[in-house]
Amino acid sequence: MTNATITLTVDGRQIETRPGQTILEATEAAGVYVPRLCWMKGLLPFGSCRVCTVRVNGRPQAACTQPVAPGMVIENDTEELRALRRDLIDMLFVEGNHFCMFCEKSGNCELQALAYRFGIAAPGYPFLFPQRALDASHPGIFLDRNRCVLCARCVRASRELDGKTVFGFAGRGAGRRIAVNGEDLAHTDAEATDRAVAACPTGSLLVKRIGYAVPVGRRRYDQEPIGSDIEPAAAGR
Ligand code: FES
Repeated sequence: MTNATITLTVDGRQIETRPGQTILEATEAAGVYVPRLCWMKGLLPFGSCRVCTVRVNGRPQAACTQPVAPGMVIENDTEELRALRRDLIDMLFVEGNHFCMFCEKSGNCELQALAYRFGIAAPGYPFLFPQRALDASHPGIFLDRNRCVLCARCVRASRELDGKTVFGFAGRGAGRRIAVNGEDLAHTDAEATDRAVAACPTGSLLVKRIGYAVPVGRRRYDQEPIGSDIEPAAAGR
């Protein structure tokens, strides 16, 4: 069974994959981009953002957590799913405080890049303007919870890649926020070189004193849409 191949259909195209892969991994290997945000290569999947939602034999599933199975018929690039993903991204913008034009992460931010890819010029929902705490206590790291999308990439990277437990969650529902395992970030064993800091897809965790080393306009997603590395055709979008 371990050497067997599995055949899937993705948007009408057959692809071959291996047992044990997730839909996201299998499609990526076949050059098909499934949008994602909380998923990050090298981390255990978390399945929280739902941006990777696909339909599998007609039922919605998170591509990053769902293992492949023989004969799956997967819908990925449909108008219905594009609208669902657009809505999810839209809601992430309004439930935080994302001022892209003033953010050091602009052009490198995955949330902003997803918005560009999905053609979101302005949010479709009212802004909530939550009050969220900043933490500038650490000499090398800045934590701005206004830009946090609760993807848990920093939480997982701290544990799985750095061997630490710097980040976690506190609170519930709309009050859920990123917490640190000390009075503030300065009172943790976090270091600016931690993989957890680099894992942040937005400008919520930034390394101090390197801002704008690459000017806005010359950054990764200023050059090409997110997903172009997987699906080169996206570069022409
Ligand atoms: S990338 Fe799959 S749920 Fe977030």
